[in-house]
Amino acid sequence: MRLILLGPPGAGKGTQGLILTQRLEIPKVSTGEMLREAVVAGDAVGLATKSFTDRGLLVPDAIVIEIVRRRLMQEDARSGFLLDGFPRTVNQAVAVEAILIEQKQRLDAAVELKVSEAEIVERISNRRVCPNCVERSYHLQLAPPRVSGHCDECGSTLVQRDDDRAHVVRARLRTYQEQTSPLTGYYLERGLLVQVDGLRPVDEVTASVLTALEDRARAG
Ligand code: AP5
Repeated sequence: MRLILLGPPGAGKGTQGLILTQRLEIPKVSTGEMLREAVVAGDAVGLATKSFTDRGLLVPDAIVIEIVRRRLMQEDARSGFLLDGFPRTVNQAVAVEAILIEQKQRLDAAVELKVSEAEIVERISNRRVCPNCVERSYHLQLAPPRVSGHCDECGSTLVQRDDDRAHVVRARLRTYQEQTSPLTGYYLERGLLVQVDGLRPVDEVTASVLTALEDRARAG
């Protein structure tokens, strides 16, 4: 299955992406995670990236599209994948289509998690992440670590993401409205859009996504 997970910052893309890829046995391809790894590694992509992510702006299409192109060429992504946080512009959406056409493949669905702005602010201000376990994120109230302030997996001290500071979050929301929200119409026109209420508890959101995907598959 080839899926795209859409939604504003804090909608739950990373959380659902992790669960869905385990259930569907496909790799999760998260541009946010790949860019953060590049920043930690201090490589060329990382150096080019941080000035954009720290201001809540999108990293230029050319950089991100190339990262995704290379990732989708890897063997484990040949039979399916879930893209988390990509595409974020119409230009990126066109690029995914082109990559898939080269591979003689097509997308199965673009799943959009719908959440209110108030919920986004609440979730992001409560989010803490592990600096070592890239995919591991916690919600201080709803999904806290077992030992306060420390990662369940490796015990490291949890931190707030640099781009989760309030003024950067406001910029990320603006960027989303201006550059990413047009993708809803883009995938609707192509008959690929699946919209799910992302305000409900994590397991209920997962169940809604899986049910919607099964319904689509049955409908052919
Ligand atoms: P990225 O890492 O993709 O950030 P984002 O899209 O802003 O999304 P987040 O990671 O903030 O949130 P999420 O939707 O994954 O929510 P999560 O599951 O963590 O991108 C970061 C930056 O990189 C961008 O700003 C940009 O600069 C750059 N970038 C990335 N991709 C790019 C691209 N394609 N092009 C250009 N630039 C790009 O959940 C949030 C919190 O809520 C957590 O604490 C979680 O525990 C909690 N939570 C999750 N679900 C629920 C629920 N159902 N109920 C209650 N709490 C929940």
